[in-house]
Amino acid sequence: MDIEEVVSDFVSLKRKGQNLWACCPFHDEKTPSFSVAPHKGIYKCFGCGKAGDSISFIQEHDGLSYMEAIKWLAGKYGIEIEETERTDEQIEQQNERESLYIVMGFARDYYQRMLEEHDQGRSIGQSYFRERGFTEKTIKAFELGYSLDSWDAFTKEAVSKAYNEDLLEKAGLLVRKDGGRKYDRFRGRVIFPIHNVSGKVVAFGARTLKKDDKPKYLNSPESEVYHKSKVLYGLYQARQAIRQHDNCYLVEGYTDVISLHQSDIENVVASSGTSLTTDQIRLISRFSQNITVLFDGDTAGVRASLRGIDMILEAGMNVRVVMFPEGEDPDSYSRRIGTAGFNKYLADHQQDFITFKLNLFAEDASRDPVKKAESIKEVISSISVIPDPVKRAVYLKESATLLDMDESVLLAELNKLLIEKRRTRSKTPLSEPETDILSETPPTEESRPLDQDQLIAIQERESIRLLLNYGYQPVEENYKLYQYLLEELNEVDFTDPLYREIFDVFRKEHDRGNTIDSQYFIQNGSDEIKQAVIDLTSVRREVSPVWNDKYKIHVPHEQDFLDHTVYQNITRLKRNIIQKLIDENKENLKNVTDPLEMDRLFDVQKQLKASEMELSKILGIVIPG
Ligand code: GTP
Ligand code: MN
Repeated sequence: MDIEEVVSDFVSLKRKGQNLWACCPFHDEKTPSFSVAPHKGIYKCFGCGKAGDSISFIQEHDGLSYMEAIKWLAGKYGIEIEETERTDEQIEQQNERESLYIVMGFARDYYQRMLEEHDQGRSIGQSYFRERGFTEKTIKAFELGYSLDSWDAFTKEAVSKAYNEDLLEKAGLLVRKDGGRKYDRFRGRVIFPIHNVSGKVVAFGARTLKKDDKPKYLNSPESEVYHKSKVLYGLYQARQAIRQHDNCYLVEGYTDVISLHQSDIENVVASSGTSLTTDQIRLISRFSQNITVLFDGDTAGVRASLRGIDMILEAGMNVRVVMFPEGEDPDSYSRRIGTAGFNKYLADHQQDFITFKLNLFAEDASRDPVKKAESIKEVISSISVIPDPVKRAVYLKESATLLDMDESVLLAELNKLLIEKRRTRSKTPLSEPETDILSETPPTEESRPLDQDQLIAIQERESIRLLLNYGYQPVEENYKLYQYLLEELNEVDFTDPLYREIFDVFRKEHDRGNTIDSQYFIQNGSDEIKQAVIDLTSVRREVSPVWNDKYKIHVPHEQDFLDHTVYQNITRLKRNIIQKLIDENKENLKNVTDPLEMDRLFDVQKQLKASEMELSKILGIVIPG
C-alpha cells in the first residue's frame, strides 16, 4: 500500500528532497519532523521517534490491532483480502477500542436503516431533514440516521446480534440505571454520527424532534474512542477540501457544517458542544494553517470565544473572522440567502483578527480614549501570543496603520507583554525537555562519560547503520562495504541482540547467494527489527539540492567518505571491545592466587594493551603512558 497515499489522508505532506514532511500527527509540534520516505514505504518522526509502514501508521493512529488495520486499509483502498472466520479467541483478543469501533459502526448502520426503511424513520426523520433542506446526498455523506421512539428497539436488535450489554453501555448506546432499569440512550431523535479523521464513528449527536424535549441535542458520553475535546465534527468529510482551499471554516454545530456543505462550502468543521481546544486546533493544522471562524450574530457569544482566536494564533496559525447579522447563524443565514449570496457574504465580511478585535472593542472608542486604550491592549495582547517574530512585526505594522498610531508606541507595549511572558515561563519548568534531535547519539544523563558497554553499543549500531545504508557501495575497487563488514566483524559477538540478529540474517542470506537490504528487513523482520531498521535508514536532513545545482557548491555527504567512515567505525568498535577485555582481565588479576595463572593473565594483558595501542594509533588517539 502506497505510504504517501495512506498518510496523506491524515496530514498534508510537503516534498523536501527525497522525502515528504509534515507536522507529526502523533505528538504536538510546530515545525515538521515527521517524514515519509515513499520509495522505502515507511514513515518516521524525528521528534517522538514513532516509525513504521502503512499498516503500523493506521494501527498507531486509531489504536488498532494489526489485523484490524489491514482490514481498514483493504476496505479503504479496495484491496481484496481473504476474510477468515474469527475464532472465539481472536474475538476475545480484540481490544476495547476495536470493540467500540465495531459496535459504533453497527449502531450507525442501524440508525441509517431506520431512517431509510422504517415507517417512523421515513415519516418523521426524513421529513424533518427535508424541512431543513438536507438532500439525499448530504444525508448519505454524513451518514445521518434516525432512532425509533421506543425504550429498547436498538438494544434488542444489538443483543440479538450478539453485542453484549456491557459493551453497549461503554459505548453510551445503552443506559443502565442502578435499579437495573435499562433503555436506549437515543430515542425518537435524528442521529448525527461523529467520525474521527479516518472515518470511524466514535460518537453520536442526536436532535430531538419533539417540542420541549430537553436537551435539544443529546450526545454520546466520552469513551475509550471518544474524547470530545479531540474531535471535530465534519473533519472526516472536510479534510480534502481544507487541503485544497488551504483554509478551514470553523462553526458551532452540526447543522452549520451540513448547511455549508449544501452551499458547496465543504471545508468546514464544528467544535460542537465544547469551546475550541488546542487538540482540535492541532487536528486542523494537519491540513491547513488557515482558520476562518464564523461567529453567530450575537456579541455575547463572540466575546466568550475570543480565547479561541488567541489559541489559534498561539498555535502559529493564521486566523480570520466572519460575523453574521444579529440573530443569524451560518446554518440559518446560508439557507436564507442561498449559495451565491452566502459565498459573497463570506468574501465581503471576512476580517483579520486585528480589525475584528478593534471593531469589537472600539465601537465608540473613537470618542472615548479609555475605550481606545483598552482595545489597543486587546489587539497587542493577541499579537504577543504569535510565536513567529516576523509575523508579529507584520501585524504590528498593520495595527499601527489601522489605529493611526506610531508603531514604536505599540512595539513598546508588545515588548512589555513579551518580557512578562518570558519571565513567567522561565519560572515554570518546561514540560518537555528540549533535546537535540540532530545529535546522532542519544543525549546522556548529566553527560556522564559513557561506559565501555555503551560505547560498544554505539559502534555496533553504527556498523549496522552503515551496512543497511551503504552495504552495496564500493569502498575500494571491486570491494563492497558489506564484504568488508562481514569479514571484519566475523569474530565479533554483537552485544545487542537486535543488531546481532540483523547481522546474522544478513550473513546467512548472503552465504546463500541472496542480496538483501533494508527493505528485506522491513518486510520480513519482527516488529522490533522493523523499527530498528527504519530508525537506522531514515535521514534527518538531506542536503538541499540548491547547493549543488544553483551555487555549484558541493556539500560533502558521508557517502563520499565511506571507506574512511567504515574503517573508523570498525576500528573504534574493536578498540572498545579490547578495552572492555582489558578491564575484565584486570578484575581477574585482582583475584588470582595461582602464580602460573597470574603469569598467563599478565601475558594476556600485555597483548591486549599492545592491540589497544595499535588501534589507538590508527584513530589518532594518544593514550597516556
Ligand atoms: P432550530 O434552529 O431551533 O431549528 O434548532 P437547531 O437544530 O438548528 O439548533 P440550534 O440552532 O439551537 O443550535 C445550532 C447548533 O448548536 C446545533 O447544530 C448544535 O450542534 C448545537 N446545539 C444546540 N443546542 C445544543 C445542545 O443542547 N447540546 C449540544 N451539544 N449542542 C447543541
Ligand atoms: Mn438553528
